[in-house]
Amino acid sequence: MDIKSTIRTIPNYPKEGVMFRDITTLWQDARGFRHVVDQLVWPYAGIRIDKVAGIEARGFVLGGAIAHQLSVGFVPVRKKGKLPWNVIGEDYELEYGTDTVEIHTDAIASGDNVLLVDDLIATGGTAAAAIDLLRRAGGTVIGAAFVIDLPDIGGSKRIEAMDVKVRTLCEFE
Ligand code: PRP
Ligand code: ADE
Repeated sequence: MDIKSTIRTIPNYPKEGVMFRDITTLWQDARGFRHVVDQLVWPYAGIRIDKVAGIEARGFVLGGAIAHQLSVGFVPVRKKGKLPWNVIGEDYELEYGTDTVEIHTDAIASGDNVLLVDDLIATGGTAAAAIDLLRRAGGTVIGAAFVIDLPDIGGSKRIEAMDVKVRTLCEFE
């Protein structure tokens, strides 16, 4: 199936010059949603995964579906101030601004194999911060899975340089 054709592009959102790749149009399509979850999951067959970590907000939707399919637990990587208990956090820069991601201090058990999931990788700043957090918590990040790659921005290379294997399903300029 042609994944790219189901993703809507919104020019100049959320600010001038950004071509926003809107995955909600893919999720609305039952076949499309199932297809991307299946495509993101199958390469990990036979690899031990203890947790899926999904990045707020769109990584929650994909990560939740992937965790369910793998029959493993789900860890939300949230923006600053959203989690109710003790947290560890990492600051990061993204394509349009800066932010902080956090996880609960007990979200990852030492030695957990973690699969990181988000909808899109651009600079890789969000994913890099999430990987640092998951590692600080004692996890081993066995892979990072995204539907959309913006390869010209270089995020997937940045994550591969952290020794995390990246899987993406389609690319936009
Ligand atoms: C988007 C996207 C990724 C991140 C990728 O989230 O869902 O999480 O940007 O950018 P990066 O590779 O340059 O870090 P956004 O920051 O728009 O947050 P939201 O999902 O909470 O709206
Ligand atoms: N996050 C960072 N860059 C993005 C883009 N171009 N479209 C959607 N989400 C993004």
